[in-house]
Amino acid sequence: TTTSPASNGNLFVVSSPNVVYTDSEILSKYTYRTTSVTQNGAGKYVATPKETVYDFKVDRKIPKVGMMLVGWGGNNGTTVTAGIIANRRGLVWETREGPRAANYYGSVIMGSTMKLGTDPQTMKEVNIPFHDVLPMVHPNDLVIGGWDISGMNLANAMDRAAVLEPTLKAQVKKEMAQMVPLPSIYYPDFIAANQEDRADNLIPGSKASTAHVEKIRQDIRDFKAQNNLDKVIVQWTANTERYADIIPNVNDTAENLLKAIEQGHEEVSPSTVFAVACILEKTPFINGSPQNTFVPGAVELAEQHGAFIGGDDFKSGQTKMKSALVDFLISAGIKLTSIASYNHLGNNDGKNLSSQRQFRSKEISKSNVVDDMVEANSVLYKKGEHPDHTVVIKYMPAVGDNKRALDEYYAEIFLGGHQTISLFNVCEDSLLASPLIIDLVLVTEMMTRIGWRQSSQAEYRGFHSVLSILSYMLKAPLTPPGTPVVNALAKQRGALTNIFRACVGLEPESDMTLEHKLF
Ligand code: NAI
Repeated sequence: TTTSPASNGNLFVVSSPNVVYTDSEILSKYTYRTTSVTQNGAGKYVATPKETVYDFKVDRKIPKVGMMLVGWGGNNGTTVTAGIIANRRGLVWETREGPRAANYYGSVIMGSTMKLGTDPQTMKEVNIPFHDVLPMVHPNDLVIGGWDISGMNLANAMDRAAVLEPTLKAQVKKEMAQMVPLPSIYYPDFIAANQEDRADNLIPGSKASTAHVEKIRQDIRDFKAQNNLDKVIVQWTANTERYADIIPNVNDTAENLLKAIEQGHEEVSPSTVFAVACILEKTPFINGSPQNTFVPGAVELAEQHGAFIGGDDFKSGQTKMKSALVDFLISAGIKLTSIASYNHLGNNDGKNLSSQRQFRSKEISKSNVVDDMVEANSVLYKKGEHPDHTVVIKYMPAVGDNKRALDEYYAEIFLGGHQTISLFNVCEDSLLASPLIIDLVLVTEMMTRIGWRQSSQAEYRGFHSVLSILSYMLKAPLTPPGTPVVNALAKQRGALTNIFRACVGLEPESDMTLEHKLF
């Protein structure tokens, strides 16, 4: 049954000769305008406007979708599950500040709007929910399942997570007690030793094997069949693993990676085994943690199978602020000279990250997030020059899921002056991450229903296997090999917004508002 209150993409029509609606599809002809820049013999840039005409095709039928989480019994897994149940049932619960109702705050798809255009009479902007731009799945309709190395049912796991109000938990407990994670694969060397005591729900075998890949594939097929699903999206929200070494003949190519799994090579991580299983099953797989799940062989395998992958590491708190603030400072012409980022947290993620090799994965993921913005400004920064940047994470059990992030941004301003910005960000980590988990599923699912072709071509095809459109939700965005990484938050949102607009034949969102400036 569909409980969605949303309009499922029927809120507006585009009136244009370039857009055709059929019962099953939206077809649009879209002119993509870019600027090609070369340098002439005298070293002068030559900028040439370029136009490419694409046809986009959007499948209008909203499928029945399953979301399978690896690490379902963790803080994120239990919180997102309780949150979706609470929304589906329209729950209201008492808090000391009065009643609170379920919502999807923090989800860009469910909580934000997009400017459709301007009403010529009133001159006012018309904004619509992001969710209504294309015919998207509603999160209330997601069927949830997944795996965990801890066999605790979701009601008890939600208590263990210590995130939600008791009055909310009481209302979802019965339903969640019926939910028990599937056994998972556990290779102890990849996560912190301090996690061992919760590993009681295991598929036998402590290193990669073809049997593990096949078991996960079977789990996905079973879940699909049991719930009558059209498709499944899998997301890794399990513990942060250490990095896997990239070893020639082991994980450098698709063929070698499959061979390494068959031979039980110890450098293949559980998350990579999940990724490979999903790719072979043509099931999109998103990595919400920082480790290098997508070794080169995994990316190549995804390309070979035309399977969607996305990652890495949910961008929820500190880094999201950073990718907005640094973009603002450097775009304002202010020379950022250092960023010092301190975190302390007391949840199980913090406990796992108190181990050096797992912390190192997080440190890498958090460190490169300003590179593109610095490199783009040759006025402030000489080639190769970078602001100092340090990231510290400490485990402090007392603060639980209420992560603290303290940041100092230090910048040089006009004539040698200085500006120091100090941020103190406190919030429940899992309440920030859960809406991102939903956004990643909704956008990924949407991408499986979008086709494109150049006007001269007969066949439509899908986007590249590596879904860089998910960058807004991710700290260290994975992009198609050889293409640049964009970290600046506004640019990431622009890409998401404007690709969705293009699919219904609308021009990119432009803030020129000439209609208000030229009378
Ligand atoms: P958590 O530690 O509460 O949950 C992780 C779950 O994964 C645990 O239940 C654990 O038993 C399970 N697990 C570990 N290895 C597994 C495996 N091989 N197969 C199946 N299950 C396995 O952590 P939390 O807070 O839910 O975070 C999950 C991940 O998301 C972490 O890696 C964290 O770094 C990442 N993340 C979280 C953010 C947030 O704001 N909460 C932001 C960015 C990333």
